[in-house]
Amino acid sequence: MVSRRPMAFALTGIAAATLLASCGDSAGDEAVETAEVEEAGEPDAIAQRQELLEGMGDAFTVIREQLEGDGDIEAITAAANTINANAALFIDHFPEGTSMSSGADTEALDTIWEDPEGFAAAHQRLLDESAKMVEAVGTGDLEVIGAQVMPLGMSCGNCHDTFRYDDEA
Ligand code: HEC
Repeated sequence: MVSRRPMAFALTGIAAATLLASCGDSAGDEAVETAEVEEAGEPDAIAQRQELLEGMGDAFTVIREQLEGDGDIEAITAAANTINANAALFIDHFPEGTSMSSGADTEALDTIWEDPEGFAAAHQRLLDESAKMVEAVGTGDLEVIGAQVMPLGMSCGNCHDTFRYDDEA
């Protein structure tokens, strides 16, 4: 291999031309890098939103179980706060390209990106109802809390109906 070096030097002109040609491709290289970064970011976004949604689901179960059982106001308070906090956060984890049709392990439908206003409105309804749940919990009155379970639950279903693929339906 070493014996070829002088020849390589002799071909400097051609090498320079090749180098220039490959410089023209650098935009393409960047595009590939960006695509790789986005690909690496996708599972993260999906995992993050699913974890937050899962936490909301578990917290909602706690509220319903407590209302049927012990009525532990501390447990209910913690759960209502979790729903309220996660509701504000999960919405930030829906980058383009992370719908179900991308082949990723997600139930997020394309409608999220096709109808961003509708998705935002469904999210706002959740924020309103979860804030009302926190208020209801503040009264310490189990009946007042119980009365807010249905409106809050309907705000979940309202979004799922249009924006989440439902296996069970
Ligand atoms: C603004 C729309 C929206 C609202 C409001 C909403 N969700 Fe969802 N939810 C989604 C979407 C989209 C998915 C699918 C996410 C995915 O698979 O990447 C989902 C998935 C879930 C999951 C499954 C998460 C997983 O691990 O795959 C649970 C549990 C859940 N939601 C609970 C709730 C509860 C409880 C509420 C109400 C307190 C609620 N969601 C309100 C959009 C919403």
